[in-house]
Amino acid sequence: MIVAGIMSGTSLDGIDVAMVDIRGRSFSVMDSWTVPYPAGVRQAILKASSPADIARLHFLLGELYAEAVTRKKHHPELIACHGQTIHHEGEPLPYLGRRIASTLQIGEAAVIAERTGIPVVSDFRPRDIAAGGRGAPLVPFVDYLLFRHPRRGRVALNIGGIANVTIIPAGARPDQVVAFDTGPGNMVIDALVELRTKGKRTFDKDGKLAARGKVDTALLRRLLAAPYYRKNPPKTAGREQYGDAFVERLLRARRPLVDLIATATLLTASAIALGIRRFAPSPVDELIVSGGGAKNPVIMKHMAALLPGVAVATSSDFGIDIDAKEAIAFAILGYQTWRGRPSNLPSATGARRPVILGSITPALRPPAGRGR
Ligand SMILES: Nc1ncnc2c1ncn2[C@@H]1O[C@H](COP(=O)(O)OP(=O)(O)O)[C@@H](O)[C@H]1O
Ligand SMILES: [Mg+2]
Repeated sequence: MIVAGIMSGTSLDGIDVAMVDIRGRSFSVMDSWTVPYPAGVRQAILKASSPADIARLHFLLGELYAEAVTRKKHHPELIACHGQTIHHEGEPLPYLGRRIASTLQIGEAAVIAERTGIPVVSDFRPRDIAAGGRGAPLVPFVDYLLFRHPRRGRVALNIGGIANVTIIPAGARPDQVVAFDTGPGNMVIDALVELRTKGKRTFDKDGKLAARGKVDTALLRRLLAAPYYRKNPPKTAGREQYGDAFVERLLRARRPLVDLIATATLLTASAIALGIRRFAPSPVDELIVSGGGAKNPVIMKHMAALLPGVAVATSSDFGIDIDAKEAIAFAILGYQTWRGRPSNLPSATGARRPVILGSITPALRPPAGRGR
């Protein structure tokens, strides 16, 4: 079955699409591409706060996802769309006399199904939250399928807006996988670069600015003292933690922006290394990096230095394009849902049990062999 996976992450840089041919337990990636968000959409997502804004964006993103997936001539039989997270609070918080965990991904599946005539699996996270989990991370299920090894301890690291690891000990069973968000990925760096370039650039291409700046070690030490980095997994992070308020805290250090960019870049790498060193239950042999941060050589250099004895590779070295990895993962998760199989890893999300994720929006007409 050909499944199109669609992912847009917390960096708000755009839409990643992967076309995956899944046959039983094996699959091959036929194609993958990225469509940047049109001008203004990123800011609109960041600013959306009224129900009207959110509802409009929900439908607009549905159109954009449908356009992104039909940009190339493939014939997927299923679309698996993660959507754009605009709120994620995996940890239950007191609310109106109860404790409520919540998450919201937008990009209306009805619009995607209507434009493409293809059934859509969307809203992957809520069911895991309903089952007592944090709704994230979900990709570890796929990391386990892709990267587990009988004799090598491996860590799959994705550096998107937030950075997250899937620690797969040598010969591990699924319930021995440890996965969590380590802290910031590119989100803080991106915000500082936007300030420094007055909005002309949204990220530190090839780590050039970080390479020019001087790390403020005292500031870095203060940042790394935050309790989050020592908290036991499962745990998740988001823009709620590393958005504007966090960046303002950095600005109060009154250092040149290039120095803050250098410091934020080392913070990303240090938080990842700290997470792995603290929470990997057994020796790690290989680190397999994906996400846009894998293209930042300063992050990659810090990673190698902070994790001596660990071989640092990218997912591309394993045949999985670094930009497509999460879209591929959601194609596989969507396929599991379509087949009626659970695909959360309770050890990663904290859910009480494995659950079938997502909501299915039917195609225009029942495909041959199904329905009537
Ligand atoms: N050449 C590059 N040099 C440095 N950073 C890059 C480069 N290309 C992409 N990035 C970073 O990767 C981010 C996008 O990563 P991505 O994996 O798409 O994250 P997300 O899943 O959060 O959208 C960009 O915002 C940018 O910070
Ligand atoms: Mg992205």
